[in-house]
Amino acid sequence: MKLRAVKGMHDILPDEIGRWHRLEAAFRAMASRHGYEEVRTPICEPTALFVRSIGEATDVVEKEMYSFQRHDDELTLRPEGTAGAARAYLEHTVHARQAVARWYYLGPMFRGERPARGRQRQFHQAGCEIYGDAGPACDAEMIDMLVGFLRELGVGEVDVLINSLGSGDTRARYRDALVAHLSPRRDELSEESRRRLEKNPLRILDSKSPRDQELCADAPTVLDVLADDDRAHFDALRRYLDALGTPYRVDPRLVRGLDYYTRTLFELRGAGGELGAQNALGGGGRYDGMIAELGGPATPAIGFALGLERLLLAMSPDAPVSAPLAYLVPLGDPGAVACLVLAKELRAHGVAAIVDGRGGKLKAMMSRAEQRQATLTVLVGDGELERGVVTVKTMATHAQEELPRAQAARVLADRLASTERQH
Ligand code: HAM
Repeated sequence: MKLRAVKGMHDILPDEIGRWHRLEAAFRAMASRHGYEEVRTPICEPTALFVRSIGEATDVVEKEMYSFQRHDDELTLRPEGTAGAARAYLEHTVHARQAVARWYYLGPMFRGERPARGRQRQFHQAGCEIYGDAGPACDAEMIDMLVGFLRELGVGEVDVLINSLGSGDTRARYRDALVAHLSPRRDELSEESRRRLEKNPLRILDSKSPRDQELCADAPTVLDVLADDDRAHFDALRRYLDALGTPYRVDPRLVRGLDYYTRTLFELRGAGGELGAQNALGGGGRYDGMIAELGGPATPAIGFALGLERLLLAMSPDAPVSAPLAYLVPLGDPGAVACLVLAKELRAHGVAAIVDGRGGKLKAMMSRAEQRQATLTVLVGDGELERGVVTVKTMATHAQEELPRAQAARVLADRLASTERQH
């Protein structure tokens, strides 16, 4: 039997990892600038946590979870990060110590969906959550931060959709209104939507079937049935977004696939061709009821998650892929000693350096340097040793020069640091 990675789960090899590191570093930097701190929670949680928070009638819980039993415990590989973070927030009674907590996380998530471009069974999310702040200002700041982040990454056109699902019984009232509208035309709905009409009617608004969409076109929208305080929250959010100059579009049919949302809902969709049908780069919203439903004190919360694979597809492809590298080529044994020492000096200056240990012909060593995409090669042979210099070749231009051996590490480190800054 040929052993292969699980369908829909991918290896990320070293030649792709540079882009991942840059994306993750940019996310961490952005999150810290906004006062978020990292949290790391286990990759699997009790199945009941996801059922209770995400909702029994959602696609994720109904058909996508990787669940298993071990030592009499029912466990599930996390399909998203919000539920686990909320569990940790509660378990460690963070609310008792911190009036407002801002957390971020990065890591793999698991959903047994049909694999497609931009849709995996193991994928990676970067997300943020705020606990303890009910005001619309933090909703606006979060959306603005996301839009700024996608710009910083060079993601082209992005559609920012917002909506409100209201709070309290709004969702239930809207559900009834939608069912009342669609029930007389039940037989015209797709099979999937007929099933949803009983279990989770809001999801019918998400249906890809053109006939379903037609039937929903004149359905009442949730914004029509918002209570006064929910409407005030939504209006304030819009006012703040306008003040921040954040572009957005109100989409009263935006529902998203997780049941925990209340009030603000948002999704960022890429307009670039690379993404195809999987164009949701990220999304989130308020979930003011979840912490209380999980047994904690009433605590408002809001968050989002970005799909990292989708972001990498949407990001500008000319972002540099790897950090600068010096490749040291020893010619003969005394050269090897000099290269080992110089490599150690370069690393002490923060430069990545590799010594070609295989030796042999110069041509073979230079082709290995090219394979490693070295920024420059440093050659040390008998001639260089006699003159107290090293020969440096810049790979992109093929320019060659000699540098005094004693200053080589510092000069090269300065030079490589400035190439990196130019990116
Ligand atoms: P979500 O919309 O289910 O929200 O996922 C967020 C993002 O993860 C999606 O927009 C997409 O980019 C990416 N994603 C989801 N499923 C896949 C997949 N199978 N393959 C590749 N990428 C995928 C959440 O997960 C919520 N926890 C967000 C949130 C945080 N809401 C409040 N706080």
